[in-house]
Amino acid sequence: MRRMLFCVVLLVCLFCFWRAVQVGATGTDQQAPPAHPKKSSTPNPADFVGSETCETCHEDINKKFAENPHSRLAMLHGGKGVTCEACHGPGREHVEGGGDVEKIFRFSKATPKEVDKKCLECHASAHPNFERTAHGEAGVGCASCHSIHKFASEESLLKVSQPKLCYTCHTDIKPAFAQPFHHKVDEGLMNCSDCHDPHGTFKQKGLHSSVAGDVVCVKCHTETAGPFVYEHPPIRTEGCTSCHFPHGSPNPRLLTRNNVNSLCLQCHTASMNFTAPGVPSFHNQANQYQACTVCHVQIHGSNADSSYFK
Ligand code: HEC
Ligand code: HEC
Ligand code: HEC
Ligand code: HEC
Ligand code: HEC
Ligand code: HEC
Ligand code: HEC
Ligand code: HEC
Ligand code: HEC
Ligand code: HEC
Repeated sequence: MRRMLFCVVLLVCLFCFWRAVQVGATGTDQQAPPAHPKKSSTPNPADFVGSETCETCHEDINKKFAENPHSRLAMLHGGKGVTCEACHGPGREHVEGGGDVEKIFRFSKATPKEVDKKCLECHASAHPNFERTAHGEAGVGCASCHSIHKFASEESLLKVSQPKLCYTCHTDIKPAFAQPFHHKVDEGLMNCSDCHDPHGTFKQKGLHSSVAGDVVCVKCHTETAGPFVYEHPPIRTEGCTSCHFPHGSPNPRLLTRNNVNSLCLQCHTASMNFTAPGVPSFHNQANQYQACTVCHVQIHGSNADSSYFK
């Protein structure tokens, strides 16, 4: 009972703390983020001049900013919008210096880590582990992909739209999508981010979910998901990519081998895979038996037949 009471109190405290952070995040012009009495590094509210003041000299930026999600969306959610100074820091000295660039936080002069830290002051709840992801660790920061004032797509504020954005660095990935058979990413029918989270995940390769277990692929290819009475085991154990290339392939159906039989015999040869049975001896390599999926049609699994004939 007492433990439960303690938990409730703790939850209430956490909630209040969270509210405080949220309010700070969408601090308004008039109410600048409150100064913390104990920390001298925390800016003094008097050092904030408000976005209207910025507008007197940066009119064009302010005008455009009204349509920015940091104004528009933030207001929809009940706040008063994110102010200039919530990102650029207190501006009094900058203004008094007639626009002294040394006295304002300049993203263009900051390191990726410093930029990330600024953005994560508000976006940490969505991307808490960013610095530990492949991108974060490689120094690819928020500003590598996002721009607040000069973006190509307003939604998500990307500097350049996908997939071009990703190709600027991942040049090695581009050829796969130029293969004869490929997911239609370059054609704009799907995005890299349908499968990958550029902010990282706990899965391999920043995938939204692991390929074994297959939720990444099954989100769209629901028919391959089963559950089947007779499931072809590699679907779950090795995953879709044991037979398909995820990006593109020279082979139809994005297969990893140009002959279906060589794909199957990777595992269905007694010496190769101890759990997969070798093919029965009547499967001599006469032509008739080479196109395995002509007979074993339900290759992902079947509810009717243990040999996946139907
Ligand atoms: C008195 C006019 C004036 C006011 C008011 C003013 N600025 Fe500036 N600001 C300037 C000038 C001049 C520059 C330097 C020229 C330039 O790069 O545009 C500058 C530069 C900047 C830069 C750096 C640009 C770079 O090159 O990276 C930022 C960021 C900036 N201002 C933000 C703000 C913000 C935020 C406010 C409101 C708190 C503000 N300014 C208010 C005049 C002003
Ligand atoms: C959500 C954070 C954020 C807010 C809010 C914000 N800025 Fe910026 N600002 C940036 C970033 C990041 C850059 C670096 C260039 C970019 O991403 O567009 C920048 C760059 C600038 C520059 C340098 C010129 C340039 O284009 O490189 C000026 C000037 C500026 N901001 C002024 C303002 C003013 C004025 C406001 C309020 C209307 C404002 N900023 C609001 C993040 C922000
Ligand atoms: C002071 C808090 C704050 C800071 C700092 C901040 N943001 Fe935001 N950001 C917001 C709010 C509030 C929204 C509005 C979206 C919402 O309410 O869900 C938003 C929206 C966005 C969106 C658009 C989301 C969408 O649904 O289209 C992107 C992208 C974004 N921020 C990136 C950044 C980046 C990059 C930085 C650092 C340069 C940054 N933000 C700094 C508070 C902030
Ligand atoms: C490698 C490129 C890349 C980096 C680095 C990156 N983003 Fe993003 N971000 C994207 C893309 C692409 C989207 C659109 C995702 C989608 O459409 O599913 C996005 C979407 C967002 C959104 C809106 C939707 C959401 O997922 O919440 C926010 C907010 C955001 N990013 C903030 C950040 C912040 C903060 C950082 C730095 C800590 C950051 N991003 C770093 C590429 C990136
Ligand atoms: C249909 C889902 C899907 C799409 C769309 C997709 N990927 Fe992938 N990607 C994967 C899978 C699955 C892997 C893991 C492959 C493996 O481990 O065998 C992967 C691996 C990667 C890797 C790691 C490569 C390596 O060899 O380690 C990079 C980088 C990558 N993808 C970038 C991209 C880019 C850039 C785009 C958009 C142009 C994109 N991906 C679109 C599913 C996808
Ligand atoms: C500014 C350069 C840059 C941009 C832009 C960029 N990446 Fe990356 N990406 C990297 C670097 C550097 C790494 C880490 C080293 C590596 O694995 O190549 C990486 C790693 C990855 C990985 C492997 C993750 C892992 O855990 O192994 C994937 C997947 C990926 N990026 C996808 C994307 C997608 C999708 C986009 C576009 C939304 C994108 N990247 C945009 C530079 C970039
Ligand atoms: C966002 C939805 C989506 C996701 C996620 C997705 N796919 Fe696809 N996939 C499609 C669409 C749409 C097509 C058919 C159109 C085309 O040619 O791109 C397709 C085509 C295919 C084909 C070829 C089918 C044929 O008839 O030629 C294979 C094989 C395939 N996907 C496997 C995968 C695998 C494996 C994954 C996971 C790594 C995956 N897909 C993830 C949407 C998706
Ligand atoms: C054991 C190898 C293997 C695995 C594992 C596998 N596939 Fe396939 N898949 C095939 C073969 C072979 C074909 C071509 C069938 C044919 O020739 O008709 C195929 C065809 C497809 C097609 C084309 C449409 C259809 O149903 O014929 C899609 C889509 C597809 N696979 C998606 C997936 C997804 C998603 C996964 C993971 C859940 C997966 N595959 C796992 C071997 C495999
Ligand atoms: C990654 C390895 C792997 C690949 C590739 C693979 N299989 Fe399998 N397959 C297995 C395993 C493991 C089993 C399960 C054996 C058992 O029942 O324990 C199995 C079972 C089967 C069965 C049913 C056997 C039974 O128990 O009745 C058939 C039929 C079959 N596979 C056909 C194929 C065909 C056709 C292909 C090529 C399109 C293929 N397999 C590709 C691993 C694989
Ligand atoms: C002409 C139709 C046909 C073709 C083509 C075919 N098979 Fe079969 N397969 C069968 C028949 C019939 C059986 C026996 C089913 C039974 O005993 O229930 C069988 C059985 C199997 C089994 C063993 C199932 C078990 O229960 O032990 C495997 C594994 C298998 N085939 C794999 C393949 C592979 C790999 C290929 C391509 C190289 C292939 N098959 C091509 C008709 C075919």
